[in-house]
Amino acid sequence: MPNSEPVKHQCSFCKRMVTVHNQYDLPIYDPATGFAICRNCIREINHFLDEHDQETVHEEKLDFARQLDEILAKNKPHVIKAFLDKYIINQDRAKKILSVAVYNHYKRMKYSYTHKDGMEIEKSNVIMLGPSGCGKTALVSHLSQLLDVPFAVTDASSLTEAGFVGADVEVAVRNLYYAADRNIEKAEHGIIYLDEFDKIARKSGANNSITADPGHEGVQQALLKMLEGNVVEFTARGQRKHPEAPTIKVDTTNILFIVGGAFVGIEDVIAKRLNQSGSSIGFGAEVASKDEKPSYDELIHKVRPEDLMHYGIIPEIIGRLPVICTLETLDEDALLRILTEPVNAPVKQYEKLLAMDHAKLEFAEDALRAVAQKAIERKTGARSLKGIIEDIMLDIMFDIPRSDEPRKVIITKDCIENGARPEIVPIPGSAE
Ligand SMILES: Nc1ncnc2c1ncn2[C@@H]1O[C@H](COP(=O)(O)OP(=O)(O)O)[C@@H](O)[C@H]1O
Ligand SMILES: [Mg+2]
Repeated sequence: MPNSEPVKHQCSFCKRMVTVHNQYDLPIYDPATGFAICRNCIREINHFLDEHDQETVHEEKLDFARQLDEILAKNKPHVIKAFLDKYIINQDRAKKILSVAVYNHYKRMKYSYTHKDGMEIEKSNVIMLGPSGCGKTALVSHLSQLLDVPFAVTDASSLTEAGFVGADVEVAVRNLYYAADRNIEKAEHGIIYLDEFDKIARKSGANNSITADPGHEGVQQALLKMLEGNVVEFTARGQRKHPEAPTIKVDTTNILFIVGGAFVGIEDVIAKRLNQSGSSIGFGAEVASKDEKPSYDELIHKVRPEDLMHYGIIPEIIGRLPVICTLETLDEDALLRILTEPVNAPVKQYEKLLAMDHAKLEFAEDALRAVAQKAIERKTGARSLKGIIEDIMLDIMFDIPRSDEPRKVIITKDCIENGARPEIVPIPGSAE
């Protein structure tokens, strides 16, 4: 343009005349009407909005702190445990530990919202050890139904499968973010359960060199960052990671971590330590005969952080999991109770299913015991119970719906042990 004189224009807002060198001096300008807002006014509006936003965040926090009073009042540890009791047989100590962990998690949150004294109550992440099918995953999933904070389960063994160092660990936080309906603030106070945690152990324990097992070591290092409290960055679900992809950032400082696993073989590590200590106070004193190996249960309850280290978990991670919680192997009586007592017990489920076809399901007491014994043979704890019953029930569930006549289905020990056909009898007096 020949005319290089800068133009002047009036801001419609502050009415000042603004010298316009470029569009940034008058960011809003409508040539048709002459309506304009100068950069100073926009700055001020921005500042005003920022302040307001900060106030709302503060108010939201206070609001949440008030909600926390209610949450605390209705989530006392004994109440949480009573809820877990409805679903999970035995494992009393684990239930207590988890109930306290959750309650304390709420208390820490309240403290941090209402006190600004610089004092911070440290969180107590939990590690659960127990044989396959003893209720680790079931405990946590029932616990999650009761929680007032977001909760997400991530299978730690899936983190290793991808194989590259640390890259996939954010998935655990991403799962939590989605469990929190994409509310970052909520996600930052959630609970993450890492299942199958033993699968990330270095393959041959402490004396293995790092280079021999790079994947697991890498995953552990990445998990450690998360456990220590760090800002974890990830992309939205379904979005591939590339430099321009927008990322979501979640601070894990206040996230409670619970990890669980079977730690198959850790009993040998514990036995070895107890033997080496050589004292008669070790398990040797408690075991009557020399060739009688102490049971998994006897040993697992004596687990110490150094055993986990020898198992192949790096010490820094163990240090971040101060609460060690061991679960017991379920014996025949426990399995028997699992079949019938919990709110969602397998037997209750089949009763309900058959009732919809006017059939009354009855298990003979020795039949249930036979199911429990079969499950013990399979060595997968309560996990195989449902499958064992399902096997026998298949024919029944196929045949019963053929008619609407009220009937009784009786499952005997013979059905369980030898595959005999369950007895089906009409219910007397109900026949038309
Ligand atoms: N102590 C228990 N009380 C009630 N049900 C149980 C118990 N332990 C396991 N179960 C049932 O057995 C199945 C497998 O248990 P799970 O929690 O997955 O075992 P794991 O300890 O290997 O994680 C689940 O369906 C669960 O409901
Ligand atoms: Mg499990």
